[in-house]
Amino acid sequence: MESQSGNSGNHLESTLRENRIFTPSEEFCAQAHVSSLAEYRERYARSIADPEAFWAEAAGELDWFAPWSRVLDWQLPQAKWFVDGKLNLCHNCVDRHALGERADKTALLWVGEPTGEERRISYRELHGEVQKAASALRSLGIGKGDRVAIYMGMTPELAIAVLACARIGAIHSVIFGGFAASAIADRVNDAQCVAVLTQDGSWRRGTEIPLKQTVDQALEQAPSVRHVVVLRRTGTPVAMQAGRDHWWHELVAGADAVCASEPMDAEDPLYILYTSGTTGKPKGLVHTTGGYGVQTYLTTKFVFDLREEDVYWCTADIGWVTGHSYVVYGPLANGATVLMYEGAPNFPDFSRFWQIIEQHKVSVFYTAPTAIRAFIKWGDEHVEKHDLSSLRLLGTVGEPINPEAWIWYRDKIGGGRCPIVDTWWQTETGGIMVAPLPGAVPTKPGSATLPFFGVEPDVVDRSGKPVPAGSGGLLVVRRPWPSMARTVYGDPERYRKTYWSDVPGCYFTGDGARRDEDGYLWLMGRVDDVINVSGHRLGTMEVESALVAHPKVAEAAVVGRPDDLKGQAIVAFVTLETAARAAGDLEALKQELKRWVAQEIGALARPEEIRFTDVLPKTRSGKIMRRLLRELATTGKIAGDTTTLEDFSALARLREDEES
Ligand code: WTA
Repeated sequence: MESQSGNSGNHLESTLRENRIFTPSEEFCAQAHVSSLAEYRERYARSIADPEAFWAEAAGELDWFAPWSRVLDWQLPQAKWFVDGKLNLCHNCVDRHALGERADKTALLWVGEPTGEERRISYRELHGEVQKAASALRSLGIGKGDRVAIYMGMTPELAIAVLACARIGAIHSVIFGGFAASAIADRVNDAQCVAVLTQDGSWRRGTEIPLKQTVDQALEQAPSVRHVVVLRRTGTPVAMQAGRDHWWHELVAGADAVCASEPMDAEDPLYILYTSGTTGKPKGLVHTTGGYGVQTYLTTKFVFDLREEDVYWCTADIGWVTGHSYVVYGPLANGATVLMYEGAPNFPDFSRFWQIIEQHKVSVFYTAPTAIRAFIKWGDEHVEKHDLSSLRLLGTVGEPINPEAWIWYRDKIGGGRCPIVDTWWQTETGGIMVAPLPGAVPTKPGSATLPFFGVEPDVVDRSGKPVPAGSGGLLVVRRPWPSMARTVYGDPERYRKTYWSDVPGCYFTGDGARRDEDGYLWLMGRVDDVINVSGHRLGTMEVESALVAHPKVAEAAVVGRPDDLKGQAIVAFVTLETAARAAGDLEALKQELKRWVAQEIGALARPEEIRFTDVLPKTRSGKIMRRLLRELATTGKIAGDTTTLEDFSALARLREDEES
């Protein structure tokens, strides 16, 4: 306990201590898209003086079927970018390379989890595969505007499925393969999906995850689905429901080899992706075509400083926004060679990632701080066995990276020579918002540094007033950007209220941040009740609802506690139904509740710790004071302000419960 409270007290100290600055090598700068801080600052200033001109120039690097008439139409909170413009992102990611000089360049370099399984798919081949998959979907009557859920593992067909939807204008809703049946059903129902694309099973650490079976379970509660397309991957037997279920390989074999790209309006929805909020069910954030395509394209080009010969590897699953923007759309729009790995980093052993980097000469590597902390824990010997000299640039995303992990990443993985781009962004922002341009911006371990061109973040108080350099505040964005989410699916009011009402005139990110004297941004984590477990956002509400759905649970409050490995770990305070409290084995019940949550939401949401308590501390208006619980879970005591507590005895009792 001492050391943990010492830890939070250390926060200031460690940032003060963190005055190391790393400048990119001359060699790196010489070849970079932007090669000095002065050049960055000058181009940034220009982009902010006239963002519409800046983004229009960027958009000109994509293929359009029809030009836009206006760059931006902004009526808070509704943005329209590239008004009247027509384009198709599958065309931009595939056709324009396949029909040009990159036809024989590898688009997807896929590494299966079982050792030895690999596939190289050139842009020409990808063009063929995507057209067949798109024709297959059309043959099922799926077309523009239809919602299609995708629940697959990291196979090339997952990327192909996403691109095929984009090609025909169907709105994809990718559901991470780790989610459980009820989470799938909620998402499918929310968007009224007409089809689900899935696999028999997927590989994870050598065992089979039964995806199709989970889909079957989910669809018992999701009547909108007319078709299920099943990719054969593991060969595990699955039940096929006649009329509804189709094998991927059979559909594609009979499909037309040619399938024209649907001309999409710049503001036509491209996809829905669900993310956790503080209250209620997950929000389906809607991204549209034009602005999203432009910003993911441009940020990939500049932040990863892409070169034609790069082998680019972003380790994110396509089920998260990072996979959407930086495995599929951004890098493919740039004509990059994208490495995609199917499985776990520690299978068959702890050196799998390093072995892949060595074998395939990966040059750009983008991963999450939680993964880096796991690598550190597994030991340097797994890294040192491998030649990582092909790497030239490293990236991180998903949560703040602690300086220790940053330095380890730089030294052990980057050999002290690769710049690190710490990229801050969100599902809602669609693309990278704050990150160093690696040939231009000196980096400080733990800071995401400076904003991307055309993006204007600020650190403010509740009234929207900027706070002085060095103090903490709320991170907001002052003006619209092209890849911003346009709405919450089916609930525009929730969109306005969640993001555009807290701080007048600004987009509120939900994150706290501090800006230093050099203008560098230091992210300080969420200021709301969202927990970030291993770089994935979970709403406290979702976990609480799952707990309360258990017959023995009366009430639950869930908070995050700092965790060395996961960033945050879930601690659940639970009050039981009286009968349950009196009877039975409480230890066994704790285990049962952990399993229950994993089953309801997915393993990611499994609480690290369950604490039973008689009462939960609440405000007079009945809101659970998670701040106090957070403090209790973290430091073991409560020192904060308690004047809004409704029942003062609740705290005392809570402490007693802790001690008992
Ligand atoms: C956190 C992931 C600090 C932040 C792309 C944000 C970060 C949330 C960083 C979004 C970073 C992401 N430094 N914190 N570089 N990147 N975050 O929607 O709290 O899964 O609001 O998008 O992750 O998570 P999401």
